[in-house]
Amino acid sequence: MGNKMLLFGLSCILLAYYTYIPIPENFEEPWKVRLIDILAKIATLTATFFENMGLMKFEDFFFVLMRTQNIEAISDENLTVIDTDFSNIPVRLYLPKRKSERQRPAVIYIHGGAFVTGSCKMRPYDFMNRMTASRLDAVVVAPDFRLAPQYLFPAAIEDCIVAIKFFLQDKVLEKYGVDPAHICISGDSSGGGLAGSVTQLLQNDPEYRNKIKAQAIIYPSLQGIDTWTPSYREYENGPFLSRKLAIKLSTRYVTEDEELPEAILRNEYMPEGSRDLFKFVNWSHFLPERYKKNHVYREPVLGRLNATYPALLDSRLSPLLVNDSQLQNLPLTYIITCEHDILRDDGLIYVTRLRNVGVPVTHEHIEDTIHGAISFVTAPMYLHSGLRIIDKYVSWLQENL
Ligand SMILES: *[C@@H]1O[C@H](CO)[C@@H](O)[C@H](O)[C@H]1NC(C)=O
Ligand SMILES: *[C@@H]1O[C@H](CO)[C@@H](O)[C@H](O)[C@H]1NC(C)=O
Ligand SMILES: *[C@@H]1O[C@H](CO)[C@@H](O)[C@H](O)[C@H]1NC(C)=O
Ligand SMILES: *[C@@H]1O[C@H](CO)[C@@H](O)[C@H](O)[C@H]1NC(C)=O
Repeated sequence: MGNKMLLFGLSCILLAYYTYIPIPENFEEPWKVRLIDILAKIATLTATFFENMGLMKFEDFFFVLMRTQNIEAISDENLTVIDTDFSNIPVRLYLPKRKSERQRPAVIYIHGGAFVTGSCKMRPYDFMNRMTASRLDAVVVAPDFRLAPQYLFPAAIEDCIVAIKFFLQDKVLEKYGVDPAHICISGDSSGGGLAGSVTQLLQNDPEYRNKIKAQAIIYPSLQGIDTWTPSYREYENGPFLSRKLAIKLSTRYVTEDEELPEAILRNEYMPEGSRDLFKFVNWSHFLPERYKKNHVYREPVLGRLNATYPALLDSRLSPLLVNDSQLQNLPLTYIITCEHDILRDDGLIYVTRLRNVGVPVTHEHIEDTIHGAISFVTAPMYLHSGLRIIDKYVSWLQENL
């Protein structure tokens, strides 16, 4: 027993030693961020261990872990909350109960989770969507799209499009009392990327042009062709979302072949002939000076992979891969980026590119928090910065939708 305790104690110290990363002093709750970071690393080690033992796949471990946070659709005195489907895509709806003289705005919310985990039913998303519906007196629609690896690219984006097009029909908007001139598409992380793609696809489709008033995206993932931007370098080992974990999970949306994540980690995975795409994400061109620091831009090494993955060239996976003329008609945009986040530069580059072509953008950069902060706003783990982000997001919608 004594030996076991000793072994356990030593393992904890070793783990803490290997996983320790400095958390800056300006963080509001540094010890909580450190704890979240360590828990993410323990989860990663456990998932790797289970996979090596042949017990379950790496991503399945995260899927199961996240699913424990799902909650039922529960109505309250102000909101009717129901699970239904739009054209066979499951959606959770938040419908204000209060009688209203006017038609209501609507927000479509696309959840994150690296395409392999997560659900609109997770407690933090439910919390956030309730708050949006109550404070805005808005209808909120949260699609539960299919996940990888069972359903590969483009399943997730196609499900979102199908559900949203169903909702945008005149008779459906009328049924829910929605004002067609006040509809926003939102999302976070991989869901922020999906929201960005959906907004582009609708805006460039004559049948849906100008039907979306705004997009509001939170620490979005907007490109998968360069994973060696300054933010990927600086926050490679976290806090919370390490480069390795992000790549390992999200590549499952493209393929189950292990060769791809390995090549992405070396940033040598794009095919011959794709150099032209890098002008859309070239951080040395689009990143404001103060984020470039001393980083030196490295040209991509092309043609090292034999397999070809058309998804890597597709703007439905990487909404940054469209030209300026496809960006210039996009609606009013709200983008939140976090400093301590490998995906920081994706958001910053999108802000620059949208502003360059005249799209009105409100950009909020949160200095003292991490990727995923809005997922830590319900018991047992609160991050004040997560609540702050949700408050900013809802306040922006109140003023602009
Ligand atoms: C319902 O709305 C009222 C008035 O805005 C508020 O005071 C109350 O807390 C809300 N109830 C719930 C369960 O959110
Ligand atoms: C990236 O931008 C830099 C500086 O603007 C330029 O020198 C370089 O050729 C660009 N690289 C690619 C691949 O577009
Ligand atoms: C790619 O193909 C070449 C030629 O067929 C082969 O020699 C090489 O081993 C392959 N590389 C990988 C990583 O499969
Ligand atoms: C932008 O891309 C679209 C779609 O690929 C294409 O039709 C259009 O010609 C491009 N515009 C410019 C200016 O390159």
